[in-house]
Amino acid sequence: MKKGLVTGANKGIGFEIAKQLMEKDFHVLLGARDINRGKAAADELGENVTFIQLDLSSADSIYQAVQEVKKEHSDLSLLINNAGIGGNMEHGPMETDILDLREAFEVNFFGTFELTRGILLLIKENEGTILNVTMEMASLAILSQGILPNSFTYNTSKTANNAMLVGFAHELKDTQAQIFAVTPEPTSTDLNDHYPLGKTPAEGAKIIVDYATDGKWHHGQMLMKDGFMPW
Ligand SMILES: NC(=O)c1ccc[n+]([C@@H]2O[C@H](COP(=O)([O-])OP(=O)(O)OC[C@H]3O[C@@H](n4cnc5c(N)ncnc54)[C@H](OP(=O)(O)O)[C@@H]3O)[C@@H](O)[C@H]2O)c1
Repeated sequence: MKKGLVTGANKGIGFEIAKQLMEKDFHVLLGARDINRGKAAADELGENVTFIQLDLSSADSIYQAVQEVKKEHSDLSLLINNAGIGGNMEHGPMETDILDLREAFEVNFFGTFELTRGILLLIKENEGTILNVTMEMASLAILSQGILPNSFTYNTSKTANNAMLVGFAHELKDTQAQIFAVTPEPTSTDLNDHYPLGKTPAEGAKIIVDYATDGKWHHGQMLMKDGFMPW
């Protein structure tokens, strides 16, 4: 049975990713920062799921989670970096509170970076996959068209996440392991106060899970449901 770690899997798209991976016979390591919320989500999913406490804004929590994975789950072959926060999505750069910006970078960039770096060698050895959950506003090519919201905190922290991916993609060059990014496309969740025109979390998660499990080579790419998304 394959094993996959999903961050921020206690609710929203992450919970549905975990559920759909289990339907594809994965044993899921369900990452969540809050023990009660994480355990409740794992209980709801039943067997073949292991809760892992993982707060991406805490270096200590990331370290403990990486040690646990290395010790107990060295056969891990899939990491889905799903956890993310939006910060104040109403604010452009001039209104942005620097603390809001730092908080988002802590989760969307620094924490995700530390976790990915901690687990990369395992994924490399197991010839596995790292999938970062990205979004349209993290694409500089799309954002610079000036049509999508200028949500400075969210957009810049997720764009930095994309740049991180490119760095790790170079690192994995000439190996059998891959790293790529996929957007679930606009999805109604707590993150966007349940945006009324969005997909359901299950629909958004399906895009992610389909790419994560299709057995194809997507290394270094950024993808949406129907194919490539520009950087
Ligand atoms: N919704 C969309 O339209 C959309 C579109 C494109 C991409 N995305 C991306 O999809 C991913 C999931 O978003 P969502 O819409 O499902 O949002 P969500 O419902 O708000 O879920 C976010 C998840 O991230 C977790 N999280 C927040 N801070 C964390 C931290 N410090 N450490 C670990 N986990 C933390 C949350 O845990 P708590 O419950 O403890 O807060 C929750 O499990 C994000 O990366 C987002 O950028 C979303």
